[in-house]
Amino acid sequence: MKAIAVHPGQPDSIHLREIPEPHVTDIPDGRGVKVKVLRVGVDGTDKEINAAEYGAAPPGDEYLVTGHESFGKVVEVGPAVPSTISPGTLVVASVRRPGTSIYGKIGLQDFTTDDVYYERGINLLHGYLTEYYVEDHQYVFPLPATLADVGVLLEPTTVAEKGINHAYEIQRRLKVWDPARACVLGSGTVGLLAALVARLRGLELTVYSLPQRPYRNADLIEELGGTYVSSRDATLAEASAEYGPFDLMFDATGFSPIVWEAAEVLGKNGVLVLASITGGNRTAEINSDRINQSFVLGNKVMVGTVNAAPADFRSGVDDLIKAEAVFPGWLSKLLTTPVYGLENYDEMIRRLTEDRDAIKVYVEVASNGRNDI
Ligand code: BGC
Ligand code: ZN
Repeated sequence: MKAIAVHPGQPDSIHLREIPEPHVTDIPDGRGVKVKVLRVGVDGTDKEINAAEYGAAPPGDEYLVTGHESFGKVVEVGPAVPSTISPGTLVVASVRRPGTSIYGKIGLQDFTTDDVYYERGINLLHGYLTEYYVEDHQYVFPLPATLADVGVLLEPTTVAEKGINHAYEIQRRLKVWDPARACVLGSGTVGLLAALVARLRGLELTVYSLPQRPYRNADLIEELGGTYVSSRDATLAEASAEYGPFDLMFDATGFSPIVWEAAEVLGKNGVLVLASITGGNRTAEINSDRINQSFVLGNKVMVGTVNAAPADFRSGVDDLIKAEAVFPGWLSKLLTTPVYGLENYDEMIRRLTEDRDAIKVYVEVASNGRNDI
């Protein structure tokens, strides 16, 4: 079967190749689920893997099948798979797998303390940009048929879910925490999804990001009932003076210096969630006394998050369902840029690197797309 792969360590090595089709029995103890891949989303991680900034092949292979934002349909299951997953079920598989740390042993490999981590389509495990995959049922999450159109957004949604779920979890320390105002930094796919999740939890929303209007993503924020502020029109301190103080801030900009500005304006007892993977070497001058003092006197928290645990996939499914009810049609507006067929890997990478207007680039893997569902 066909797959899109790279030679890790070799820039621009993306290519189409033939790989063997997996069998449901490749997973021991009857726990296997075989999935026909329908769609796969791509993001900055895929771009950076093709640029050879990171990514590793599974031991014994000189290629890595890429793609970690999966969406597919179950075609076969082993005898030990629970009935919530059966042929025809729409599913999304998670990305990270256990290593040796205790966290992996309790199903929280997103919290691994190992130096080496295993992620399908990213590091040491093949991904989903292929025709079929098999997986242990514990890593496969069922979706209702009503999410057929937008289910490919689940994996990026889990980035927002984990960050916001953990913000609430951390704030249980405050006994009566009742957040009113959220600020999301960045208006790319993850920023938009974090904005959605914040609104679904009833928070007032401000999104602070670089582009000025006219800007479709700003319109999308307003459709959620949020306020969009361009960093060209106001500093974050000004935005906070007008719309804050913020109880919950979520960074998805990919621009690390903004984190220190956010730390300065975060409200008392607030949480600042960091979700940007910034692989560069940027440095910044910061107001360290001010930040330190406000964190101490304001009992503030800054927390990093990498996704995601089963609970975040499950709350992600719930929020996608809720989103379709509360903001009908909003999610599908994020699916701006389909690429048809694995053969078009060149166009996929080109859209990902050059198409400034794209929100989500994704590959329609199954030839007959959604008619196939
Ligand atoms: C993926 C996550 C992954 C992270 C770190 C992100 O692009 O969506 O699943 O944990 O990269 O590799
Ligand atoms: Zn990703």
